[in-house]
Amino acid sequence: MTEKKTQPEDMMEKIISLAKRRGFVYQGSEIYGGLAGTWDYGPLGVKLKNNITNLWWSMFVDGREDMYGIDAAILMNPEAWVSSGHVGGFSDPLVEDLKTKKRYRADHLLEDIGVDCKGMKIADLDAAIREHKVKSPEGNELGEVRQFNMMFSTHIGATDDAASVTYLRPETAGGMFVNYKNVVDSFHPKLPFGLGQIGKAFRNEIAPRDFIFRVRELEQMEVEYFVRPDDWENQFENWRKEMWKFIEAVGLDKNKVHELEVADADRAHYSKRTIDFEYDYPFGRKELYGLAYRTNFDLTSHQNGSKVNLEYFDEETKEKFLPHVIEPSLGVGRTMLAVLLEAYTEDEMGGEVRSYLKFHPRIAPVKAAVSPLLKNKPELVEKAREVFAMLKSEVPQIMWDDNGNIGKRYRRQDEIGTPFCIVIDFDTLGENPEHKDTVTVRDRDTGEQKRMPISELNAFVKSAIK
Ligand code: GLY
Repeated sequence: MTEKKTQPEDMMEKIISLAKRRGFVYQGSEIYGGLAGTWDYGPLGVKLKNNITNLWWSMFVDGREDMYGIDAAILMNPEAWVSSGHVGGFSDPLVEDLKTKKRYRADHLLEDIGVDCKGMKIADLDAAIREHKVKSPEGNELGEVRQFNMMFSTHIGATDDAASVTYLRPETAGGMFVNYKNVVDSFHPKLPFGLGQIGKAFRNEIAPRDFIFRVRELEQMEVEYFVRPDDWENQFENWRKEMWKFIEAVGLDKNKVHELEVADADRAHYSKRTIDFEYDYPFGRKELYGLAYRTNFDLTSHQNGSKVNLEYFDEETKEKFLPHVIEPSLGVGRTMLAVLLEAYTEDEMGGEVRSYLKFHPRIAPVKAAVSPLLKNKPELVEKAREVFAMLKSEVPQIMWDDNGNIGKRYRRQDEIGTPFCIVIDFDTLGENPEHKDTVTVRDRDTGEQKRMPISELNAFVKSAIK
């Protein structure tokens, strides 16, 4: 068996096609021709996504005594986004095609011709567009580089005047800052402590691209960790290590993830220090996660904006102050794309080329498939149904599969990354008394099968997915 990783050039096409064919990710509103920057998760995509978010939640919220989970509304009082600086400063540098009036990301046009835009301000981008005589993709002259706000606005209630404008949140963080005081009042946590949230955020990306990498509707897994001002460096380091633990637990190759100290000019307006965790995607080394030191920027701004005192009162020292914040921010879609890319493998098995998803069993959408060897033998089907029900009662992500012949079932399960295929055959029923009440368990990666007593199956699967 020779295993090879597909060459980066055709990797994205292969992943996108497999994701659609097997029900992981579909184009948003596909039957209407789609809606750029939106993607819908299918039955297996939802399972994979839930496995990723559940892993994050168990590591970063439930697994810790100092973390409090919340689920805030997506629509917030628009004043919150004025205070946070997003109304004034959450923007992308865009240029307009002077003929078609279409807008493009100035940094993307430059990166497409090999210019490194890291650290460039608006004026630098504009100068670079002129220096390299960059044209629009249609070949037309480009206007001046300008900042455009990326928030989606909408109207609350029956009127659609300026007073009713609000925004779809551009980051889940906002919902945590406005609930910081509620959690303090309910639980009286000692510093350091954090709030964690998983939820949707929306950004009007001018050029959504690279499948589920750059989208307009995204899901984030974010922590806002409140610390004493003089403890921020220590806590920043702690979260840096936690993020590496998550990268490993979700099954990514650490050699493909790289830390980037983000330059002053490239940091978000609220951050005094940011490390990007970048992944080697086939379309380049791009941001997977971010770790930011947001100082007390947000609590100060929300205190000023809301006129509500957000100071923390330290019972021991009797001090009152605004805590500082460390923010590990992880994207669900970007994780899912990296996990799919990491898992995609081609090899040769039984003289045929096969492609499969080598997920860690912990995040595989289906943990095991159960089949009767032949679906037209009621005695096999009955026994297989028994085994299926027994396993599914303890591990819900078990699939019943009696479609096609056994070889086709194996191929299909390999392609969706199912680590184990369990088959009930005539030996299970006692044709060979030595093997009575045993089944075959086939390993996805090696194709090897071993017999295992039915009584050991639950423990076997549970230990593999830990
Ligand atoms: N909260 C950080 C971000 O949305 O990028």
